[in-house]
Amino acid sequence: MDLNTIERNETDSASQSAAAASAPAKKVFVKTYGCQMNVYDSQRMTDALAADGYTATDVIADADLVLLNTCHIREKAAEKVYSELGRIRDMKAERAAVGREMLIGVAGCVAQAEGAEIIRRSPAVDLVIGPQTYHRLPDVLARVRGGEKIVETEYAIEDKFEHLPQPKRAEMIKRGVTAFLTVQEGCDKFCTFCVVPYTRGSEVSRPVAQIVAEAERLADAGVREVTLLGQNVNAWHGKGEDGMEWGLGRLLFRLAEIPGLARLRYTTSHPRDMDDELIAAHRDLPALMPYLHLPVQSGSDRILKAMNRRHTAKDYLALLERIRAARGDIALSGDFIVGFPGETDADFEATMGLVRQVNYASAFSFKYSPRPGTPGADMPDHVPEAVKDERLQRLQALLLKQQQDFGLGLVGSTIDTLIEKPGRQAGQKVGRSPWLQPVIVDEMAGEIGDIIRVRITKTGYNSLFAELA
Ligand code: 5AD
Ligand code: SF4
Repeated sequence: MDLNTIERNETDSASQSAAAASAPAKKVFVKTYGCQMNVYDSQRMTDALAADGYTATDVIADADLVLLNTCHIREKAAEKVYSELGRIRDMKAERAAVGREMLIGVAGCVAQAEGAEIIRRSPAVDLVIGPQTYHRLPDVLARVRGGEKIVETEYAIEDKFEHLPQPKRAEMIKRGVTAFLTVQEGCDKFCTFCVVPYTRGSEVSRPVAQIVAEAERLADAGVREVTLLGQNVNAWHGKGEDGMEWGLGRLLFRLAEIPGLARLRYTTSHPRDMDDELIAAHRDLPALMPYLHLPVQSGSDRILKAMNRRHTAKDYLALLERIRAARGDIALSGDFIVGFPGETDADFEATMGLVRQVNYASAFSFKYSPRPGTPGADMPDHVPEAVKDERLQRLQALLLKQQQDFGLGLVGSTIDTLIEKPGRQAGQKVGRSPWLQPVIVDEMAGEIGDIIRVRITKTGYNSLFAELA
């Protein structure tokens, strides 16, 4: 799974919305927690609501509908939702006092996992909707307006993507030159720490024609870089235009043919699903960016086995060797969990050793958080919180050092940068390196959507500074 940037990626997608179909417009405020797939889902829900007459707002007090798109991956994520619901309840009461409605909806993985419990714990909530039923949102809202409280968490049999409306072209243009595109959803791997197979359901791949059509629409709206999303994106497969069974590698080749799409990425991958064709795509497809998020979680075989990862540390390292042989400048990113039940000092040292061996360009690391209903939660020998803290600190210090060294190693080199948006400071624009770092350039260096050659002059905390090459 492991769509990363969980908890780093809270965005109010209000500014991403479309114009209402007809007046008077109702307003929706959407807050997104968690991974990139939730960011994508929030956009698609906003599109569905636009077709229902809602415009987006980023002022929560103005909203007729507040939608929290939630994340259940770790405990803190769900707790944040409950405390946010407390604040929103007060706003709902203030609006009610002046005769205005504020409906509250909870979507996403907490909605799926907790269902009706959310309304029991937060009675101000009007609707709870799981990730597989977003296309039913307008219907659900109609029933809510009729006075019902709705919990909609059955997995739908129909394909939600076929029923979700596409945004208007003008709206797509506003969303910028990079975009996410979900190609696969759900997970059949059942890592013992992970709640995703229960919240997102089993693995489903979207059909080739749907994906190509969506990518073409994005390119037509000026998108230059598309990141294909899936909990196990490299398990994607489907019947190709030639009648053959395609894997992700073949799909990437097809998407690279779309005029305007200059850059492709995919996330997140499982080591078990990196097949030869996908590795060949890294060798032969210049549009495929040389950056790979390939979580390993632990460097200890004992813990990997307990996690049901179904590979050893050696398997992972051997795989990286093949990938690096295909694409020399590829940068690696990963996810790590410290303090999985039974993790000893020696197990943790094995993780540190693996990190030193791989040398990551970026990584995300977390303390193990028992998820109700997952096998890990019921395992013996839970690691004390203080030990988890200490291990996480040591691991993060090492990963941060590697990330900074990776940036420093780029100083003086010339790289391609996709100009993405105006900078925070006047006179600057922000671009994106092939390895996902923000690149700060002079605003005259190029227009948004241009890919320009720049020379890296220095590094910031998390970014690169560059001049036109
Ligand atoms: N506790 C801690 N981290 C977790 N992750 C997934 N489940 C848990 C959990 N129960 C991490 C994994 C995954 C990333 C998205 O979140 O590292 O790859
Ligand atoms: Fe990823 Fe494993 Fe969770 Fe599936 S079960 S989403 S592979 S961490």
